[in-house]
Amino acid sequence: MRLAVIYGGRSGEHDVSCKSARSILAHLDRARYDITEVVIGRDGAWHVDGIPVSMGDALRTLGRADVVFPALHGPYGEDGTVQSLLELAGVPYVGSGVLASATGMDKEFTKKILAADGLRVADGVVLRPGQDDVSPADRERLGLPVFVKPARAGSSIGVTRVDDWAQLPAALAAARECDGKVLVEAGVVGREVDVAVLEHPDGSLQAGPPLEIRVAGGHDFFDYDAKYTAGEVIFDIPARLDPWVTALLQCRALQAFAALECRGLLRVDFFLPADGGEPVLNEVNTFPGFTAASQYPRIWQAAGMSYPELLDTLVNTAAA
Ligand code: DAL
Ligand code: MG
Repeated sequence: MRLAVIYGGRSGEHDVSCKSARSILAHLDRARYDITEVVIGRDGAWHVDGIPVSMGDALRTLGRADVVFPALHGPYGEDGTVQSLLELAGVPYVGSGVLASATGMDKEFTKKILAADGLRVADGVVLRPGQDDVSPADRERLGLPVFVKPARAGSSIGVTRVDDWAQLPAALAAARECDGKVLVEAGVVGREVDVAVLEHPDGSLQAGPPLEIRVAGGHDFFDYDAKYTAGEVIFDIPARLDPWVTALLQCRALQAFAALECRGLLRVDFFLPADGGEPVLNEVNTFPGFTAASQYPRIWQAAGMSYPELLDTLVNTAAA
């Protein structure tokens, strides 16, 4: 099978995409796949197997593949832009389509759609370009801490925990380096648990064992450094949860997958509030981190599916 893997990209997660792709390329069965590497530089320039090409030539190469594997994180890759090129080229690809990718990348619209479907999301306000403050009434309702996040980014880039409203302008400036649209969200006190959803080639969906994230001291939250520095985080798979909580989280993750009309895969990140109430859905990732140490492949490994088997499933589902 001719498989084209696209990685790199223009987003702040360029390096993360390269790491994910290195793992994917190392685990693909070379006897089964004839692989072409398509790299998008930070500047947006395209390369096919190391040779600089125009976007048009790259698309022609992609169009000749049996399946394309977009291993891209963040805007200009995980957000429906590259997916729309692949739709135009008429080639099957791994993961969600244009709408789900675009929605999943935008935390404002993710939350709107999930809330409309009855899922619990964190309270928050959206600050659009030109809006620089949170009203006294919203401050009182949200309380502290709040998390200030670019609406469309990943890997916690540009995210700041704010414990005092005096820190808001600096946090807003940091978020705006990534995106003019910013979310100010109420912090949820509780355990952080991720659930992986995988679509099989017959269309059936599977939710994996929940993974609990325990971050080492010295981090305000599961930030970029904690995500990508060895030893800064412990994953418990399966998370130590009552069976009914596990079942509830898996049910909510599948509900999110359906509400957003995802395809192939999704990682759904929750907080379990300390008061024991309904899980709060923090965000979704239509193309979650894929290094061998990342949550998504590790969840499936814990469920008995090796990394190469996971890749085969994703490609077979795309091709089905
Ligand atoms: N956006 C990163 C890659 C993640 O969520 O895993
Ligand atoms: Mg994310």
